[in-house]
Amino acid sequence: MSLFLGFDSSTQGLKAVLIDTANGTLLSGHSVNYGRDLPEYGSPQGVLENPDPLIRHANPLMWLAALDLLLGKMKESGVCMGDVSGIGGCAQQHGSVYLNGRFTSILATLDPEANLARQIAPALSRSTSPVWMDGSTSTECFWLNSKFGTHLQDVTGSPATERFTGPQIRKFAAEGPQAYEETSRIHLISSFLCSVLTGNDACVDSGDGAGMNLLDLNSLNWDAGITEATAPGLTGKLPRIAAHPRIEGTLAPYFEKYGFRPGTPIATWTGDNPASIIGTGACMIGTAALSLGTSDTFFAAMDSYHVNPEHYGHVFGLPSGGYLSLTCFRNGSLARDRVRTEAGVDWDFFGNTAFALTPAGNDRCWALPWYEPEITPIVGTSGLRANFDFAGATPQTRVRAVVEAQAMNMRLHTRWMGAFTTLRVTGGGSRSEGILQTLADVFNATVETISTTDSAALGSAMIAAHAVEGIPYNSLTSTFCVPARAIRPRQNAVNLHSADLTAFRKFLLFT
Ligand code: XUL
Repeated sequence: MSLFLGFDSSTQGLKAVLIDTANGTLLSGHSVNYGRDLPEYGSPQGVLENPDPLIRHANPLMWLAALDLLLGKMKESGVCMGDVSGIGGCAQQHGSVYLNGRFTSILATLDPEANLARQIAPALSRSTSPVWMDGSTSTECFWLNSKFGTHLQDVTGSPATERFTGPQIRKFAAEGPQAYEETSRIHLISSFLCSVLTGNDACVDSGDGAGMNLLDLNSLNWDAGITEATAPGLTGKLPRIAAHPRIEGTLAPYFEKYGFRPGTPIATWTGDNPASIIGTGACMIGTAALSLGTSDTFFAAMDSYHVNPEHYGHVFGLPSGGYLSLTCFRNGSLARDRVRTEAGVDWDFFGNTAFALTPAGNDRCWALPWYEPEITPIVGTSGLRANFDFAGATPQTRVRAVVEAQAMNMRLHTRWMGAFTTLRVTGGGSRSEGILQTLADVFNATVETISTTDSAALGSAMIAAHAVEGIPYNSLTSTFCVPARAIRPRQNAVNLHSADLTAFRKFLLFT
């Protein structure tokens, strides 16, 4: 058997997917939810509660506890871990883990009888990790953008961005100079988990590293000028860079207790979005992908390197080579869930029935559920914005108003990414017929889904298969990313949404 295991350490939980490259089958999916399965970490949505809506941190030990728990569950459920030929992984992007000089020696001597999280705890020089939902670094971003101007975006693919790792490190170095001094390594969540799995200090891959505002995307080295201006001595605290995921090392003996073969190869971990573009099979020009997760993230392979002139989009490395463009909308599934709960309806009503009861275009009733400060467009004051009496409307009108407005907002903010005729949709929201048809109509594109909603974990398993067995990405794509369904745009609805774009832009401007 040629089994490959892929992890996705996402905002709200850890997921794993197992593929068999010999038979071309996706064998099983397993998951741990932080809120449900690890309540002792006090993070029902994957982050520690904080009264300041701009501060969002998580306990990095929770991610390790999830790894132990998930592997234990998989072993118990009879997965033949000894048949796994390679392991890959990805994690929510931008989040950073701060480690002291003991990190590598602790990794090298992990005791399989003892708890993983408790063993790693003494290696943390900062007890919490800022994650991508943190928006508290406006001062640092303003400073970096003023110092470097457009150079920062031209070199790193993004202007200084609140959730990105560089501005977060700058804030930490200013607020806790002593703790910063004691930090000898700053890992991304992906490279931290890969280090733990291999028992060695792992590389950051260019896909995830691009989300730091520090990496020169042309040379694939840390930009010395930007890095040292971000925080003194930072270059020496950053991991090495892998241009693309490759075999990073072999599994640390600690994990053999789950039944893995000694020496199981581990591929370099990447970010969830670079893994997801592999897992959705959207690496070709003309196809874009949309992940409907905690954030809604739009991404596409690029034919050439160019940055977003309007400054809200990003360029990251693509694991299969070249670059991907990305635009992130922070209020995704959590916001939809809140609208659904407040309307008192179930998912079937939200995803399907509401659309049968309302006309396409919703008589121009739009609502944007910016319950958390929004990234695209930047909106600092949270709250739902509507151009009609939202609270007094029927549940079906409220649902369509939110789904159509989110799709129209995405259309306006993804134009810089280029034209496409096919949109691969993944994540929990891709189970909703109403959302899929709305996207097809608003984008005038064929919307396709693949057989799993866990495209990031699938992409990680495919990356491992490529790194370990050299299987070309296009062959993995044609095996594992076959479209399960295709939803075509309806011409009347396409015309209606296109005609509404100008009015929608005005609605956005005045919200
Ligand atoms: C992308 C982004 C999010 C996270 C969480 O820039 O911030 O998509 O990767 O999934």
